[in-house]
Parts: sequence; structure tokens; C-alpha cells
Amino acid sequence: MNITSTRHGAVLELAFDRLDRKNAITAAMYAALADGLVSAREDGEVRVVLIRGHQEVFTAGNDLGDFLNNPPHGDESPVFRFLQAISTFPKPIIAAVSGAAVGVGTTLLMHCDAVYASESAKFSMPFANLGLCPEAASSLLFPQLVGLQQASEKLLFGEPFSAQEAHAMGLVNRVVPVDQLQAFAMDRAQSLAMRPMASLLTTKRLIREGSAQLIASTMQKEGEQFRRMLGEPAAREAFTAFMQKRQPDFSTL
Ligand code: COA
Repeated sequence: MNITSTRHGAVLELAFDRLDRKNAITAAMYAALADGLVSAREDGEVRVVLIRGHQEVFTAGNDLGDFLNNPPHGDESPVFRFLQAISTFPKPIIAAVSGAAVGVGTTLLMHCDAVYASESAKFSMPFANLGLCPEAASSLLFPQLVGLQQASEKLLFGEPFSAQEAHAMGLVNRVVPVDQLQAFAMDRAQSLAMRPMASLLTTKRLIREGSAQLIASTMQKEGEQFRRMLGEPAAREAFTAFMQKRQPDFSTL
């Protein structure tokens, strides 16, 4: 399934595992992530979720072949189910990012409660370069997190930025050496899982519930635009160019 789900005591680890495709996420992988989160929500023995990729790459974002051949249609699509599950998840989520975190690989972090990155982490949201627009409520959450100018530049240019930059702007809690990241993130998750569950749940709910409705409606609005844009010529050109290993030509679009 290319998503591994492993219990370490009270911590559920969900890991991208499709290294030959840089952990690019297919519809089946979104479905596995959504199902994993839904069952973790109900499972009283799971107290904390840890999301990670590999040391080489967190995830290259949505599979671009899937965008061409199997685009998401509505609210029941696996990607939307995943985004709904992560954005409303009541228990703490920790992310460990090493290597590239592209597109949803960066936007999903805005729904996590602590983000740890290795020195090699590289974040990007290249939606505008692909003829698309922001998703996962990032058009709301990213400016809130890092300020309007920073968010606008990152979302319009879609350029990659480093772990240090992500830390300085507040997207990342801590940057650690590459070979220490996974152990560090697991230690943090285990440490969190030892705290009283009612306090974790109540604290997270108090932090997040004020913006929950706005996040849901933003995600809905973004989703409508995103799905429309997926079928437009600019996005088709961008995906085809990526598959053909050439630069896209937007000169007439
Ligand atoms: N969808 C589908 N296939 C992908 C992919 C994606 N998002 N990202 C990488 N791959 C594939 C490549 O096509 C390549 O396939 P090949 O071996 O058949 O040539 C393989 O994974 C390795 O990728 P490659 O680009 O050679 O690795 P890299 O280390 O040079 O670069 C990335 C890694 C992540 C920076 C680069 O692959 C990339 O930019 N990917 C696209 C990211 C993207 O635009 N995502 C969508 C965001 S909305």
C-alpha cells in the first residue's frame, strides 16, 4: 500500500513508503492515511500519531501521474478524506521531515502539533508552477503562521526553502542532524504519550476549535478551485512536462 502503519506502544507511526517515486502520494495512499487516522481516532490505545517519510525524502507530494489520469472529484475522494481526517484529528500529531516535502508534504504540516525537521529538509508549495492553487487550508493557515509577505512569496513563487528558513518562520519547531531525526521525533512522541490524555485532548481542542469552521470552509473553497484547475490547460501542460522531463511552456496560457 506504500503507507506503513506501526504501533510503538501508545504511538502510531504512519510512514510514506514509496521511495522509488520519492514517496509521491497516490489515491490509494491517501485512502490508507485517512483510514489510519480514522481508526487511530477511535482506538483508545493510540495517544499520539507520528508521521514520517524516509531520511532521503519526506514526500514529493501528490503523484503527478495520478493528477493526470485519476484526478480527485469530490468530497469523497481519498485526498479530501485525508485532509478532513488530519485537519480534525483530536489527538496530537508529530511530523518528522527529512529531504523534500513538496506540496501537500508541506501543507499537511500545518495540521500537525509539532514539526521536527532534519538539516536536509526542503519545503515547497509549487502550486502556481503547476497551474494549481493552494490546498489543505494553506491559503489561510500559512499566512497566519508566517505572515502575509512570507506566505505570499512562498505560495506564488513556489520556490523551495530550507529547514533553517522554515524554523525561522515558525513552520518547524526544531532542526536536528539528519541521522538523529527519527529517534528524536519518536522520543518526543513517546514523551507526549506519557502525559494525561484528557489534558492533551483538551489543550489541542482549545488551541484549534476557534478556527475549525474557517479551516473547513477554506478547504472546501480551495478544493473547488483546485479540482477545476486540475483539468485546465496550464496544469495539463505542467504534469505532461514533468512526465516528459522538460520545462513547461506557459507562454500562451
Ligand atoms: N509524482 C509522480 N512521480 C514522481 C513525483 C510525483 N510527485 N515526484 C517524483 N517522481 C518520480 C520521478 O518522475 C522519477 O521517476 P523516474 O525514476 O521514472 O524518472 C522518480 O520519482 C525520482 O524522481 P526525481 O525527480 O528523479 O528525483 P530528484 O531527487 O531529482 O527530485 C523531487 C526529487 C521531489 C524534488 C522531484 O522529484 C520533484 O520535484 N517532484 C515533483 C514534485 C511535485 O511537483 N509534486 C506535486 C506537488 S502539488
